[in-house]
Amino acid sequence: MTTILITGASRGIGAHTARHLAGTGATVYAGARHPEHVQTDDGPDLRPIGLDVTDDASVTAAVQRIRDEVGALDVLVNNAGVPGSWAGPAEIGPDDFRDVFEVNVFAPARVTRAFLPLLLRGEHPRLVMVSSGMGSLTLQSSDATYADIAHLPYPASKAALNMLVVQYAKALPEVLVTAVDPGLTATEFTAGSGHSVAEGAAAVITAALDTTGPSGRFTDRHGPTPW
Ligand SMILES: NC(=O)c1ccc[n+]([C@@H]2O[C@H](COP(=O)([O-])OP(=O)(O)OC[C@H]3O[C@@H](n4cnc5c(N)ncnc54)[C@H](OP(=O)(O)O)[C@@H]3O)[C@@H](O)[C@H]2O)c1
Repeated sequence: MTTILITGASRGIGAHTARHLAGTGATVYAGARHPEHVQTDDGPDLRPIGLDVTDDASVTAAVQRIRDEVGALDVLVNNAGVPGSWAGPAEIGPDDFRDVFEVNVFAPARVTRAFLPLLLRGEHPRLVMVSSGMGSLTLQSSDATYADIAHLPYPASKAALNMLVVQYAKALPEVLVTAVDPGLTATEFTAGSGHSVAEGAAAVITAALDTTGPSGRFTDRHGPTPW
């Protein structure tokens, strides 16, 4: 039996991923600031769990519950994320960066540290970081996909998250660590622009179920994508 925790599972890519993975027979903890917002169906083992990824007490309580109920975690998916401010260089300040990095970078590090003991007791432990192609230096360079979009904190936060994936993969050889890019996906995050949520969740689901690796990759739904 595979046990999975996904953060930010109240809606969007996280909600779809949680439901899909529960449908494969896994026990899935759907982390949400408001767990009553997690949609559950009869049948699959989808367990809403209160989890504000920016709050130490909330993360500690989630660790305790999962430890008490199942004792180990096979897959941790750090999915919760925020887009942050689109203000330009003349207006944007450190607090705008801090708000985005708090959820997109510091929180995955907090949640990973807190769940690491349970993850190391899991079978084929996997750590999936939901990143973005916007965090790819290659895809941001001239003539590439995001060359014409200037958005300061969000791409910087996902570039930082990508580097964390590279470093976690080196530091945790017993864990399969993957950064995934959902691609532009029609959720609240994009005000409905982009491909379907199922297409956006595909890379997350593939990484969560993959037990072969290699570790330290950046993938989208078509396969490896450039850092
Ligand atoms: N949509 C895209 O085009 C796209 C493309 C590339 C990457 N991504 C990444 O994919 C991930 C999911 O995005 P999405 O499109 O599904 O966005 P979304 O629909 O806006 O959902 C974001 C999720 O993150 C949760 N969240 C935010 N702050 C949180 C906190 N402090 N603690 C716990 N949960 C928190 C939200 O929970 P609440 O309901 O409590 O607010 C929500 O469940 C993000 O990391 C995003 O950067 C998205």
